[in-house]
Amino acid sequence: MSDFVAHVTGARPNFPKAAPVIRALDALGVSQQLVHTGQHYDEHMSEVFFRQLGLPEPDIDLGVGSDTHARQTAAIMTGLEDLFTARQPAVVVVYGDVNSTVAAALVASKMQVPLAHVEAGLRSFDMTMPEEINRLVTDRLSDLLFATSPDAVAHLGTEGVHAEKIHFVGNPMIDTLLTNLDRFDNDAARGAQGLTSRYVVATLHRPSNVDDPADAQALTKAMHGVADQVDVLLPLHPRGRARLEAAGLFDHPGMRVIEPLGYVEFLGLVRGADAVVTDSGGVQEETTILGVPCMTLRPNTERPITITHGTNRLVTRESLPQVMEECLAAGRAESWPIPPLWDGHAGERIATVLADQVG
Ligand code: UD1
Ligand code: UDP
Repeated sequence: MSDFVAHVTGARPNFPKAAPVIRALDALGVSQQLVHTGQHYDEHMSEVFFRQLGLPEPDIDLGVGSDTHARQTAAIMTGLEDLFTARQPAVVVVYGDVNSTVAAALVASKMQVPLAHVEAGLRSFDMTMPEEINRLVTDRLSDLLFATSPDAVAHLGTEGVHAEKIHFVGNPMIDTLLTNLDRFDNDAARGAQGLTSRYVVATLHRPSNVDDPADAQALTKAMHGVADQVDVLLPLHPRGRARLEAAGLFDHPGMRVIEPLGYVEFLGLVRGADAVVTDSGGVQEETTILGVPCMTLRPNTERPITITHGTNRLVTRESLPQVMEECLAAGRAESWPIPPLWDGHAGERIATVLADQVG
C-alpha cells in the first residue's frame, strides 16, 4: 500500500532543506518515512542538525559511511532497494546534489516509484564537479521538480522537461533560516569563540580547493592574505583538514581553525561577520538573505541568483585578499534585493504538491 512519502537524506546540506518539507507534510497529516543514508555521520555533521532543527529521528539509518563515489553510491542504492522493496513509498523525495540524492533517484526511478527533487534545475555547467553530474542525472529521472529560482526553471525547460513537472516553489533552506533567525545570537556566538574585533567566517570543502596539495597550498596563501587583515574563523569540514593542515593553513596567528559548528552557532557567527569566504552552495544562499558580503572561491556557481540579487561574488585565490580589503573598507550594503519566493514558505508549497501523490 503506497500511502507514505519517503525522504532520503544523508549529508549536511540535506537536513536544512528537508526540515520544512517534513514539517509542512506533518501539518497536512501525511504519513512519512525519513531515511538517513549515513553519508555524513560525525555528530557535528549530522546529529546536531536533527536536534537543532527539530527533525524527527530517522526511521532508517543505512549507515553507509565514507567511501569512493562508486562504492558509496552503490551502498546507498542497495540499501534503498531493499527498503523500498519491503515497503514501497508513494513518492520518494530527494534533496540537493549529493551522492545520497543521485543514488536514491536511480533506485526510485528503476522501481517506478515517483521521484521528487527539491532544488532541481541548478547548473554550474562544470562537469568536473561531482554535484553537477548528480544534478543532471537526478533531474532527468525526476517526476516532480521543485525549483528554487527562475534560472533553474529555465534550465529545466531548455533540457526538455515538461512544464507541468516543474514547480517554482522558492527555497526551503531559506525557510529554515527564517524560522530560526531569532536563535542566531551573534553576541553569544562571538563570546563562545572569544572574538573581540572584526572577523570573517570561512568554510572550505570543495574537491577543487582542498583535494590536491598544490590547490591546498594556493588556498593557504590566499587565506593567509585575508588573515593578515582580519581574524578568520574557519569551522573546517573534515574533507580537507589533513591536506590544509599539511599546507600550513593553521600556522597564522589570525587563522582560527575549529571543528564544524552546529547550525545555530554557525549562523550566529555568520550573521555578525564582516564577510564570509566559502565554497559552499548553501552558505552562498544564507549570506544572501542575511546581507553578509560573501566571497565564493570558485570559478562558477550554480546559484547565480545570489550574485544578481544577493551579496555574493566569485573570487579566485589570487584576487581574494584584494577583494577582501575592498569589502572591509566598504562595509555592508544597506539594502539588497531578495530572490523571488525566498519568503519562508517553500516547504508548504512543496508539501501541497507532494500530498496529492499520496493516498
Ligand atoms: C559531500 C557532497 C558535497 C557537499 C558536502 C556537504 C557528494 C559527492 N558531495 O561532500 O556536494 O557539498 O557533502 O558537506 O555527495 N567525513 C568525515 N565525517 C563525516 C563525513 C565525511 O570525516 O561525517 C570525511 C571523510 O573522510 C570523507 C570525506 O569527509 O571521505 C568526504 O565526505 P563525502 O560525503 O564523501 O563528501 P563531502 O566532501 O562531504
Ligand atoms: N553549516 C553549519 N556549520 C558549519 C558549516 C556549515 O551548520 O560549520 C551549514 C550551513 O549553514 C548550511 C549547510 O551547512 O546550512 C551547508 O552545507 P555544506 O556547506 O556542507 O554543503 P553545500 O551547501 O556546499 O552542499
